[in-house]
Amino acid sequence: MSEQYSHLIDLNDYPVEWWDKVINLGAQICAHPQRYVQACAGKIMATLFYEPSTRTQMSFQSAMIRLGGSIIGFDNPMSSSVSKGENLKDTTKVVSSYSDILIIRHPMAGTAKAAAMTAECPVVNAGDGGHLHPTQTLTDLLTLKMEKGRLDHMTVGLCGDLLYGRTVHSLCKALACYPENRFVLISTPELRVPEYITKLLREAGCEYREETSLDAAISELDVLYMTRIQRERFQSEADYLAQKDVYRLTPEKMRKAKPDLAVLHPLPRVDEIEIAVDDDERALYFKQAKYGMYVRMALILKLLESTNPQPLLHGELHPELRCVNPKCVRAQEHYLPPLFTQIGTRTVCEYCEERALPVE
Ligand code: NCD
Repeated sequence: MSEQYSHLIDLNDYPVEWWDKVINLGAQICAHPQRYVQACAGKIMATLFYEPSTRTQMSFQSAMIRLGGSIIGFDNPMSSSVSKGENLKDTTKVVSSYSDILIIRHPMAGTAKAAAMTAECPVVNAGDGGHLHPTQTLTDLLTLKMEKGRLDHMTVGLCGDLLYGRTVHSLCKALACYPENRFVLISTPELRVPEYITKLLREAGCEYREETSLDAAISELDVLYMTRIQRERFQSEADYLAQKDVYRLTPEKMRKAKPDLAVLHPLPRVDEIEIAVDDDERALYFKQAKYGMYVRMALILKLLESTNPQPLLHGELHPELRCVNPKCVRAQEHYLPPLFTQIGTRTVCEYCEERALPVE
């Protein structure tokens, strides 16, 4: 097991002070990028993207290039030996031996953790199915720090696909760790946040409300986090069509919002924010995408410098249990050990945090 490296699988594996250090370094790099142009000279970053990406992949790549390092990788697994049937373990084992840091995105939840178990360098989760997206959250936190000056005492509205939106899950988990944040979870009943997120908010003592109307909530918000309906994660096209176009942020709605509202979106946008909103100075999503590059520069530096790895695995072997999630990495990579962990009274899958049931 590669416990000797500092991976980033879930931000909550690290204390809040560590996130603050990454964010502060991101802010410093943003102010003085020229000081870091040789910081990773001679280092190689690999990007393994099994799912489409523009911002995450390119911001990581430009981050490493701006630090003086080099990049290898694929963004279409079908042009690699994955198309010949190679498993995740073998691909990551080999590619990690060619590189100093490995960034992975995959449609199955828990893949980054599974990759980190055998990798020979630090692994970063760049999105694992509908589960988590910790580097987007670092991006969101740096944006809020720079643009609102704080990460606490905010009423945060999250709107759209709260069920499949991994950026939403990671952001809720993170903002729940700062004092006095309140959440308004705006979605249709079908796309409510997973139960483990509301449970986590309750356990963290955060006030939250589930709401179906963006119009009804907008005036109370300090932050509005809009998200795309995640078409690729629906069981059928009909299910997706029933959800698309429900929420749309328009200049009319913006008129009811606070003068210092911060509108964030991880992008890509489909049609949930009208283009006319882009001219509103409260629309921060393009700035946010740029902060993503600086915070990833900071993250690469921190992980490469780290001498104090956090434990990767928290659970225990339970061959008598199975995970309920058909999109869990273990459903595809059968050699992975059946690890399950206890969160409060619940036993959950180590890889994807979904519920455990007895093996049939
Ligand atoms: C998000 C993702 O991939 O989860 N995009 C991103 O990384 N900036 C959001 C999305 O695809 O909707």
